[in-house]
Amino acid sequence: MDILVVGGGGREHAIIKKLKESPLCGQIYCCPGNGGISADAQCFPIKATDIEAMVQFAKEKKVELVVVAPDDPLVLGMADAMRQQGFLVFGPSAKAAAIEGSKVFSKGLMKKYGIPTASYEVFSDPKQAAEYVTEKNTFPIVIKADGLALGKGVIIANSLEEALEGIHSIMEDKIFGKSGNSIVVEEFLTGPEVSVLAFTDSKVVRPMISSMDHKRAYDNDQGLNTGGMGTISPNPHYTQEMAQQAMERIFLPTIDAMNREGRPFKGCLYFGLMLTPKGPYVIEYNCRFGDPETQVVLPMLETDLIEIMKAIENETLSQLEICWKDGACACVVMASGGYPQKYETGKLISGLDENGQLPGVTVYHAGTKKDADGYKTAGGRVLGVTACGRDLEEALQKAYAGVHQISFDKAHYRKDIGRR
Ligand code: AMP
Ligand code: GLY
Repeated sequence: MDILVVGGGGREHAIIKKLKESPLCGQIYCCPGNGGISADAQCFPIKATDIEAMVQFAKEKKVELVVVAPDDPLVLGMADAMRQQGFLVFGPSAKAAAIEGSKVFSKGLMKKYGIPTASYEVFSDPKQAAEYVTEKNTFPIVIKADGLALGKGVIIANSLEEALEGIHSIMEDKIFGKSGNSIVVEEFLTGPEVSVLAFTDSKVVRPMISSMDHKRAYDNDQGLNTGGMGTISPNPHYTQEMAQQAMERIFLPTIDAMNREGRPFKGCLYFGLMLTPKGPYVIEYNCRFGDPETQVVLPMLETDLIEIMKAIENETLSQLEICWKDGACACVVMASGGYPQKYETGKLISGLDENGQLPGVTVYHAGTKKDADGYKTAGGRVLGVTACGRDLEEALQKAYAGVHQISFDKAHYRKDIGRR
């Protein structure tokens, strides 16, 4: 089966490496892909959001399966466009992807169906939003842009001043463009965070092994929020009891709610949970695999990923048993110095072999390009150095041993992944 994977980061590299383990896997194409992915797939420079060109490419290459991995093409309807052409598709429709594409929609869904989440108000007028936070006068308070914002659309305001500034920058300065036409202002919750990715065909939901992201740029959770600086799997805070509560109160009600709203969700639904003293609460939904969660979740998957994707599209997931490995997995992201703000690219990466790999670990490429000199940095997050082990300690030790053998000018990584 020839496959097109849409996207070009560490997540897509992890998906491609897992697809290649399947005996059903033929040629893999990745658009746009990146330097490291080109060792595993044929990459073509088509923008992930260019639906027309992507459909044309899939037809030309006569692929059978199309995996749409990033949020923006899903929200724009790429999965629908591919299904209309008769491709087998992995990824939700635009109507279902709204669960990530609009926080106003997802918060409304949770309120309507009694799914535990922070209490909130919606505003489309910055004056009213400012009046509300002034009157409420409780901090921290959380301000979220309605639409997609590269994972940066959340402001935790610790004072009235910060809250007013946040509202102004999102709604009037439009730092996230029209994603900030509306905002959600919500209660601040506390507790350990857990990412649970789940396969669903809209009939049944199969949570994958749990994971933990590290969103802040620096050690001890200091610095700005990033796309994610590292992950571990499973998440040690996610007990059997929490998992059961999440299934009963969140996962099943969400699938049911989406069906009732006429938006059946097929694909990977990402539950960003906070384990509060009152049980698991939803912080956010994503309509896709997480990045870099996927880099520690998929290596633990034993079942054939292509079989899973077929079962989801055919709505026969209930008939498939999904198995996970024992042990643990850890991913340490190596980023360009300065990320998530300004950074330089084009730095030569040393320590990798010609396939962009290193013995003892799996190196998922997030932002690299390859030329005659070798691999060079080409993004904020550059590499996800990943290892599995009998336990978390062993996985971390192996992953960091890998990191210590790789270098590039101004490379930055967190030294405390998995220590929380
Ligand atoms: P998001 O982009 O929605 O994943 O949010 C980024 C981060 O902000 C989350 O990982 C949480 O750490 C934090 N966050 C979001 N909403 C809340 C909330 N209601 N209470 C506390 N922290 C939150
Ligand atoms: N790692 C968080 C996300 O994928 O949204």
